[in-house]
Amino acid sequence: MAKNTSRFICSDCGYESLKWLGRCPGCGKWNSLTEEVLTPRQSLNAKVRATAKPIALTEISQMQMHRYSSGIGEFDRVLGGGMVPGSIVLLGGDPGIGKSTLLLQVADRIGRLGRKVLYLSGEESAGQIKLRASRLNIDNPNIYFLNDQNIDCLDTYLAELSPDLVIIDSIQTVYSDNLSSVPGSVSQLRECTAKITDMAKKSERVFFVVGHVTKDGALAGPKVLEHMVDVVIYFEGEKHFPFRLLRGVKNRFGATDEIGLLEMSGLGLREVTDPSSVFLSCKDPTVSGSAVVAAFEGSRPLLIEIQALVAPGNPGYARRMASGIDQNRLSLIIAVLEKRRGINLSACDVYLKVTGGVFLRDPAIDLGIAAAILSSYRERPLPLDMVYLGELALSGEIRAVPFLDARLKEIERLGYKNAAVPAGSKCDEAGCRPLALMGVKNLDYFIEMVMGG
Ligand code: TYD
Ligand code: MG
Repeated sequence: MAKNTSRFICSDCGYESLKWLGRCPGCGKWNSLTEEVLTPRQSLNAKVRATAKPIALTEISQMQMHRYSSGIGEFDRVLGGGMVPGSIVLLGGDPGIGKSTLLLQVADRIGRLGRKVLYLSGEESAGQIKLRASRLNIDNPNIYFLNDQNIDCLDTYLAELSPDLVIIDSIQTVYSDNLSSVPGSVSQLRECTAKITDMAKKSERVFFVVGHVTKDGALAGPKVLEHMVDVVIYFEGEKHFPFRLLRGVKNRFGATDEIGLLEMSGLGLREVTDPSSVFLSCKDPTVSGSAVVAAFEGSRPLLIEIQALVAPGNPGYARRMASGIDQNRLSLIIAVLEKRRGINLSACDVYLKVTGGVFLRDPAIDLGIAAAILSSYRERPLPLDMVYLGELALSGEIRAVPFLDARLKEIERLGYKNAAVPAGSKCDEAGCRPLALMGVKNLDYFIEMVMGG
């Protein structure tokens, strides 16, 4: 009989070791190795039979790539235009962010088209799912609920029901009998994902798999999970704000880094069709420390307000707090302002906030951040009808930004009259648009022209 063996596996990178180690040699993380008992698969001993057949590229059906809509436009956008049959999509996000709600709403839209949906939940009971469905006014006979966490039985249920869409909520709660380790362990995650991937590739079904995230915001389990699936989407947002961002980080069928914007309401998630307008609060000409930027997220620009507060602090213990951008980026911009402009912020606390609870990674918002900090520091409001675009170099120069035309169009659409852009920027319709462009070479020029020296 095959013997059980034990391995120590890193929960972060999947590194395997025969003995316990305090520090993972694979990723360098401390205390991440946990013991798992592995039972060898029966099939390893049995004679392996090759059942697959090579197919010529020309014979592969084009039908396999025909996408269909999830019924939620913003979700389709992140999926690369819709759901691809035979694909597996991993949806990660914090608990309570709305993953189950989103997938139940997608299930309803798909069910309404006469397609069957199987909702496998290891986290919630049938009653809880029904409660959520009633709250969302969903009463769809094409949605089937299944409460069996054993992934080895899924094949049987799929053959019986023949659904077009399968939702697994969540990957951390399902297990395979091939392994004796507990659900959610690294080896179970890998085994179950491999099984689901196998089922997806052999059929025309779409699989949505929910994954929990660690406190650092990454999907719990080794990175290899992300490699095994076709699409990885993160569902982000601040709990205290209604806005939720779908962010594509991997997509085998479309552009990555695409974003979709949704709003959590009393009746589930709603699409936000005009994202820019929701991030701009009402303007007060006497308020300092507020600047509007045009951030490019995914394939579209978003106009968002950035607020800064520079307050007196203790020298040597000055606080820097950023919400919505990386803290290190705030420190870097403050360092450039101090070194290049001689502004002494060492005795000041600096707080920065992006409205709406979204997280921005676009470097083109640097100029807007610097403008907001300067405005609060000097207690001088910035012009209300201006938008700031430009990446700040360590030298204090303002660097060019990509997709300038798309950003300018959005700025115009929302009625702004002026835009500060990097000097020398080339745009297609220069001179014929109603927007007045101000070319900014460096911080000195910016302060001179916009803040009056
Ligand atoms: P849920 O989908 O259960 O989150 P996840 O699966 O990511 O853990 O969403 C739970 C939250 O959403 C909960 O705090 C309640 C809120 N919610 C609404 O605000 N409106 C709604 O219509 C629904 C169904 C949930
Ligand atoms: Mg859930």
